[in-house]
Amino acid sequence: MADTRDEPLVLGIETSCDETGVGVVRGTTLLADAVASSVDEHARFGGVVPEVASRAHLEAMVPTIQRALKDAGVSAKDLDGIAVTAGPGLAGALLVGVSAAKAYAYALGKPLYGVNHLASHICVDQLEHGALPEPTMALLVSGGHSSLLLSTDITSDVRPLGATIDDAAGEAFDKIARVLNLGFPGGPVIDRYAREGDPAAIAFPRGLTGPRDAAYDFSFSGLKTSVARWIEAKRAAGEDVPVRDVAASFQEAVVDVLTRKAVRACKDEGVDHLMIGGGVAANTRLRALAQERCEKAGIRLRVPRPKLCTDNGAMVAALGAEMVARNRAASDLGLSADSSLPVTEPHVPGAHGAHAHDHDHVHEVSKDNLYS
Ligand code: KG4
Ligand code: ZN
Repeated sequence: MADTRDEPLVLGIETSCDETGVGVVRGTTLLADAVASSVDEHARFGGVVPEVASRAHLEAMVPTIQRALKDAGVSAKDLDGIAVTAGPGLAGALLVGVSAAKAYAYALGKPLYGVNHLASHICVDQLEHGALPEPTMALLVSGGHSSLLLSTDITSDVRPLGATIDDAAGEAFDKIARVLNLGFPGGPVIDRYAREGDPAAIAFPRGLTGPRDAAYDFSFSGLKTSVARWIEAKRAAGEDVPVRDVAASFQEAVVDVLTRKAVRACKDEGVDHLMIGGGVAANTRLRALAQERCEKAGIRLRVPRPKLCTDNGAMVAALGAEMVARNRAASDLGLSADSSLPVTEPHVPGAHGAHAHDHDHVHEVSKDNLYS
């Protein structure tokens, strides 16, 4: 019989933004992925309202845990561990998940694993394509982050090669959708409109792609301004805005830069495969262009199915299971949520563990900067 360390049964809780996600995995096998989203409650504000998200998590937490266990057909007493997103994310939202995880871990006498949301977005691909190759090159693109990361072990070593110097890719999608009056969140709706538009209709700028620019950093704020100005000029002239062409041309500018830089990082680092994770990895055009460019460069592409790209609990369970399998120390019950947890810390041992990073420096957190 297999050692439970090879195939640990782990429940994962995700509450960093507006999705209450609870997943159950056995090793790298997905058993349940229950998600309750409060996105509709935020739509009329054009962005996620932290207090509304926290309250929605509180209401959805226990029913979502029960649903996940039922879907997985397992009993809580059989779990080998409980994993939870400890950060980064909205402080109040994270707190609900961390408190629930601690309560369940304590009541059931199970080990607790506080894990990093960003590393979870990478590790989730194990549920789709099996064990991650080591090292793995990852392009992480979400509402709060856009980074190129190199990892030799997803439980302990994640090295940032580059990141956005202003807006995250998902944030740019959300903002352009708002300018086009397409609602929130913007990614899925722009993706849909773009399918019927011409990506070459308007030549929008590609940020940080000059010969002297940082090879692996991204910038989307100039693009965002340029698209908004283009739309304003059309409106001022009393002309119709070709929404599908704008969506397609804007989207092309984003995914062109993302894929170009990711392929370059793989070549420079001698890594022959690329993983793409985070909400924006659900984008149809990003997936297609990445596939095309990776094939040309002899790089193997790994992208999870769209439902596993956006926030969910299964990704947290996947990283938790990897922590158990690799014998990482459990977090203590003093574990606290850390809204600015750096990507370099996949695992949070707890109150007495490594919290050495600079808390005075407040990092950008997922989706909470949408009011700007
Ligand atoms: O990873 P995620 O679910 O939450 C964060 O951790 O931020 O990512 C959410 C972001 C949003 O900005 C949303 O507009 C974007 O992912 N997104 C997409 C698509 N689906 C979600 N962006 C482009 N195309 C999509 N199909
Ligand atoms: Zn996310």
